[in-house]
Amino acid sequence: MKPLPRTVQWIGDLPGHVRLIDQTLLPTQVAYRDCKTVEEVWEAIRTLRVRGAPAIGVAAAMGVVVGIQSHTDPANYGKRLKEVADYLRTSRPTAVNLFWAIERMEKKASEPEALVKGVTRVLLAEALAIEEEDRRMCRAIGRIGADLVQEGQGILTHCNAGGLATAEYGTALAVMYTALEQGKQFRVFADETRPLLQGARLTAWELQQAGIDVTLICDNMAAQVMREGKIQLVVVGADRIAANGDTANKIGTYGVAVLARAHGIPFYVAAPSSTFDLAIKDGSQIPIEQRDPREITEGLGKVVAPAGVRVYNPAFDVTPAELIAGIITEKGLIQPVNEAAIRALLEG
Ligand code: MRU
Repeated sequence: MKPLPRTVQWIGDLPGHVRLIDQTLLPTQVAYRDCKTVEEVWEAIRTLRVRGAPAIGVAAAMGVVVGIQSHTDPANYGKRLKEVADYLRTSRPTAVNLFWAIERMEKKASEPEALVKGVTRVLLAEALAIEEEDRRMCRAIGRIGADLVQEGQGILTHCNAGGLATAEYGTALAVMYTALEQGKQFRVFADETRPLLQGARLTAWELQQAGIDVTLICDNMAAQVMREGKIQLVVVGADRIAANGDTANKIGTYGVAVLARAHGIPFYVAAPSSTFDLAIKDGSQIPIEQRDPREITEGLGKVVAPAGVRVYNPAFDVTPAELIAGIITEKGLIQPVNEAAIRALLEG
């Protein structure tokens, strides 16, 4: 499989900067964007130049280094680090990987190793470790999830949980990439994913690049495609998974899970352990990002709604655990999905 362009990378040593593939330009342009200030990293996350829960975590960790690296006053280092971390935390609210990665960076700064080697140096090493670990977790998710793919199946996915959403390879799409490497024949249906079209712009592009048989459908066609018997498996990614398994993912995912249940099709979530938030009991506590109404009224580059119309634009929804057949993690498959099984795998 031809490797995709690197989603997020650190350029140079110290000082250095973040380079990311600008996903707002895909699929027509494959272009990189350099972020040399923490404000530029924040903007890239906020506007979805870099998006997808694990990739946001990697970008934020590198963003911490960008924000702190020119700070030379040791007396105020801690204060500046907190400012940078808190600022990056405001970029997007739902994907827990953002908060997980920033917290990891802050923790690292207070370890004794930081005093010996220099805090910024240790922070850069930690950001690179987060990127590398994500790459390894995605490979493991692919290996574990590929067992679920049977010869000749149709697989539906929603949004983009591919290489572009992670350090490399993806979560839900890793399952497909690994199945392909194993020589399995299958067909993928990609929901276009309104309003920002991550399915059409990113998933269809990624799968096409990889040589996977992909068919793009509008979100409202999924029920019909299932009824026609074209789908035997659904695999999606996640932005935050509560302790009981309730899963936040791109708006529309919950609807797909309901449809899958109605048609007797197994619905799986693929996510690394960094996407679990065991501090929250269930999905009702997951903050749901509300985005600009213009993504709906003029998101396709054309005004498609009357001026002044009231718009509701939640970017994510929560699929209840009871609709999820299993959660594919780098540590194994969680099945059935409940708090005991989640804690046993992640904490055991
Ligand atoms: O708004 P986005 O594009 O960041 O939303 C992304 C998703 O919902 C993905 O499915 C999720 O982050 C999993 S990525 C491996």
